[in-house]
Amino acid sequence: MKWEVLKDEAAVSARAEEFLLESLVSSEVGAIALPTGKTPVALYQRLNLLSEDLKAQFRTQTWFALDEFLRRDLAPESSFRGFLLRHFIHPMGIPEGNLLTLSFHPDDPEKEATRYESAIAAAGGLKLALLGIGLNGHIGFNEPGTPLDSRTGVRRLTEKSRKANAYLFPSLEETAHEAMTMGISTILSARRVLMLATGASKEAPVSRLVKDRSITETFPASALWSHPDSWLLVDSTAGAAL
Ligand code: F6R
Repeated sequence: MKWEVLKDEAAVSARAEEFLLESLVSSEVGAIALPTGKTPVALYQRLNLLSEDLKAQFRTQTWFALDEFLRRDLAPESSFRGFLLRHFIHPMGIPEGNLLTLSFHPDDPEKEATRYESAIAAAGGLKLALLGIGLNGHIGFNEPGTPLDSRTGVRRLTEKSRKANAYLFPSLEETAHEAMTMGISTILSARRVLMLATGASKEAPVSRLVKDRSITETFPASALWSHPDSWLLVDSTAGAAL
């Protein structure tokens, strides 16, 4: 894994934009996986300001959400699909059909997971997976303890993750208890992995990731050390200890 400590969130977004544009102009087939959450918002806002010519390059690309809450009564706007439509797909003028997401109320989660894996394969695999990092080191919603060889499936959310995502729900009690996510191995199957981390709350997980290089299920982000083309972009706050 290579990492870069950049001045601030704007610099991280600018650098991430370079990675995305490089991936879009390359002749390589494949889809791009996207995260939701607070971290990528500055990047999405920046992309929304691109020229129409550059935005056009995003419109023929297939995009996959990394994960989705599981909750039958979820308001669509609290879903990760809703988030990505609002922050990225609609402002970029990308056809909604080019965003593939997991259902937040699948009748058969196992079938849903298989459908997602097949859709990724049919798109030519992932050429890029963009990631955030959870306070506990989760990637996607692969919480500590998830096997490193896991594929897409259901995960129980930890209290820490529920609290971190409570801002998307009317109250903590209404926060989803489970999610579906691409597995660690699904994410690592991407030809390139790009993780973004910004802000003081990410200093501890970033420090652990970079300094303690052991690859362990108890800290899922550590799996990036086993990937031949993985990158970490952090701002000077998240990277204060590096
Ligand atoms: C969200 C996702 C999560 C987040 C992580 C960080 O789609 O996959 O792994 O990237 O929880 O979230 P923020 O950016 O809100 O700190």
